[in-house]
Amino acid sequence: MPQNHQVLLDNRPEGEATAANFRLVSADTPALQDGQVLVRHHYLSLDPYMRGRMNAGKSYAAPQPLGEVMIGGTVGEVAESRHPKFTAGDKVVGMGGWQEYSVVDAGQPGALRKVDTTHVPLSHYLGAVGMPGVTAWYGLVKIIDPQPGQTVVVSAASGAVGSAVGTLAKTRGARAVGIAGGPDKCRYVTEELGFDACIDYREHKDALSLSKAVKQACPDGVDGYFENVGGMCLDAVMLRTNAFARIAVCGMIAGYNGEPIPLQYPQLILSNRLRVEGFIVSEHMEVWPQALQELGQLVGTGKLRPRETLAQGLASAPEAFLGLLKGRNFGKQLVKLV
Ligand SMILES: NC(=O)c1ccc[n+]([C@@H]2O[C@H](COP(=O)([O-])OP(=O)(O)OC[C@H]3O[C@@H](n4cnc5c(N)ncnc54)[C@H](OP(=O)(O)O)[C@@H]3O)[C@@H](O)[C@H]2O)c1
Repeated sequence: MPQNHQVLLDNRPEGEATAANFRLVSADTPALQDGQVLVRHHYLSLDPYMRGRMNAGKSYAAPQPLGEVMIGGTVGEVAESRHPKFTAGDKVVGMGGWQEYSVVDAGQPGALRKVDTTHVPLSHYLGAVGMPGVTAWYGLVKIIDPQPGQTVVVSAASGAVGSAVGTLAKTRGARAVGIAGGPDKCRYVTEELGFDACIDYREHKDALSLSKAVKQACPDGVDGYFENVGGMCLDAVMLRTNAFARIAVCGMIAGYNGEPIPLQYPQLILSNRLRVEGFIVSEHMEVWPQALQELGQLVGTGKLRPRETLAQGLASAPEAFLGLLKGRNFGKQLVKLV
């Protein structure tokens, strides 16, 4: 069995997470038992939710235990199998964590899924045709439910979730407006993803200034807002919401290090009769097959062209993860292992 390199959560952050919270170790891979599969990971997914798991406090999911391999989505290839449904060479997606290999009890529901890489590259099963894509689909379709001609705004628009939100909104006949950090990201959002407009929030020092830019980009107001960030973006867009607008609260990355992100205008929830709903994608497994089918088609036919940022090698995972929390990624952040 191969030697395995792993990244463990060594200690919990106080405030901002740092590379010193993680530890790189090497370990022997245990011999396979009946029903188990050895997977060699080709890509590891880095996702903002991992920052929440590093904390000990109460949340929607249990904290990541100290001294254990960081959790995370992985795609790779079956290296060896003692399960009848898997054979060496199968391409699979699972939750292998921050390590080069994983031994999986393949009979456990949802533990390992074979994927077809004929039209969709393997890495996209961690992005647009994986958890982030389904997240976009759920928030947009089930909460915002855009009607043709309505305007949908999404923050972190160039990212794994945001990029899919825009494409899904456009295919439903809505106008899609992104908010992203910097001119390069905004250009990508309009020119390559096909959004109708994109606002660079870094050009604005407060919510009122950003809100003027939202008004310009959304002359008919905002009917749906897909929130990935919180703070100034939320205040600015709320000021431009139409009556009965829907806000899908997907993420609040501006506050993931514990910084306060107070809501400036909560009275708008009443005066504009807003529907504000948070959701966690893993609690809606019933939509995954339908969502993955649509997302797979969009990527396979080139209608959705997701961008990726690749960090090379397992040892680069902590720094790449910290960069993701600061917007240094451009599109889906992955670690390439093979
Ligand atoms: N509810 C769920 O079930 C669920 C599932 C998956 C993801 N999510 C959430 O969805 C959001 C997007 O996730 P993702 O995987 O697609 O990540 P991503 O957008 O690919 O990467 C995160 C992006 O957030 C932006 N960002 C970071 N800090 C920011 C700040 N202080 N202010 C404004 N923008 C900031 C950066 O883009 P800019 O450079 O453009 O600012 C960064 O590139 C996250 O909030 C995540 O927690 C929720």
